[in-house]
Amino acid sequence: MRSLRISVTDRCNLRCQYCMPEEEYVWLNRHELLTYEEIAEIADIFTQLGVEKIRFTGGEPLLRRDLDILVRLLAQNDRIRDLALTTNGILLASSAERLRRAGLHRLTVSLDTLRPDRFRALTRKNVHAQVLEGIEVARRVGFEKIKLNTVVVRGFNDDELVDLIAFGKEMGAEVRFIEYMDVGGATRWSMEQVVSRSEMLSRLERQLGPIEPLNESEWAPADRYMLPDGTVFGIISSITQPFCCTCDRARLTSDGIWFLCLYAQEGVDLKRLLRAGASREHIAAAIMSAWRQRTDRGAEQRKALREQRTPLPAEDLRKNPHLEMHTRGG
Ligand code: GTP
Ligand code: 5AD
Ligand code: SF4
Repeated sequence: MRSLRISVTDRCNLRCQYCMPEEEYVWLNRHELLTYEEIAEIADIFTQLGVEKIRFTGGEPLLRRDLDILVRLLAQNDRIRDLALTTNGILLASSAERLRRAGLHRLTVSLDTLRPDRFRALTRKNVHAQVLEGIEVARRVGFEKIKLNTVVVRGFNDDELVDLIAFGKEMGAEVRFIEYMDVGGATRWSMEQVVSRSEMLSRLERQLGPIEPLNESEWAPADRYMLPDGTVFGIISSITQPFCCTCDRARLTSDGIWFLCLYAQEGVDLKRLLRAGASREHIAAAIMSAWRQRTDRGAEQRKALREQRTPLPAEDLRKNPHLEMHTRGG
């Protein structure tokens, strides 16, 4: 276990078709949220057990008020070698500088299209320009290794791969194409809409020339590639080539449930332990014991379902919002 993803809120100011396509959602109770002090305490225990990468996610993490205070708390922990945030970028222009000053190292911004009309159709909000401005401001205030996440959906944005790579190059940002996943929340998912890694690569090769894989041993989910002009991009192929066997990541929801896999049905309630007054040692032992017994292979098991692979029904998600991607952190 080297990486912990902390969802700081389940709320979001977009409604991306591949994540939150429904009209209504059941939200976590605000009173159940971990405080920043509690998050820092739990994060500290995880770092004592070996975690060295922490990423804030959501929902949209910038909707949580004064997130820079939490960033500052965690930035003091020198066992954390990588402190990052994944955001949809809408609120980035106004917060990038504060986050940078608070000690955030890295940023990933979701950007699925360069066309404002498509953005609006995808997200139900007309705020494409704000996202682009957010990326620019983030660069200006000193975030260097920005990454751009693009979920590729057939018939929606699969004709924009080359344009997105060009945009990333212009911005000095690395684009990562993500295969559309049947995670909780993706109630409109179908295999036909997934564009596989190999299809992306062959399309890009046809247009841009030979692509060289960069065979790195990093345990990141993205495989990286280089184009003839030296531009590097990534592909996250959780559908066609799951990476469960090298998965080193755990995730904490904003109400303190720890999930050992993106697809896990159940988690461990760390908030309950913390609020019951359990000692750090006790909580650490509970985490270690659960992680040692871990057999999760969520993405591989989904793949094995083949034709029977269908998205989770919206009804199940309403009954158990912890199954949602926007709750457990994308
Ligand atoms: P880096 O450290 O920059 O490589 O970050 P990252 O790739 O972990 O972060 P990001 O939040 O950008 O995640 C990228 C995408 O990878 C997510 O949107 C998911 O689609 C996918 N992903 C993240 N975590 C998991 C996981 O635990 N399992 C699977 N199967 N996919 C994941
Ligand atoms: N498939 C792939 N990626 C997804 N994300 C959200 N839902 C899905 C899905 N169904 C991604 C977002 C964001 C990250 C946090 O999770 O694009 O970049
Ligand atoms: Fe889109 Fe991220 Fe919000 Fe989900 S959490 S609706 S992926 S912006």
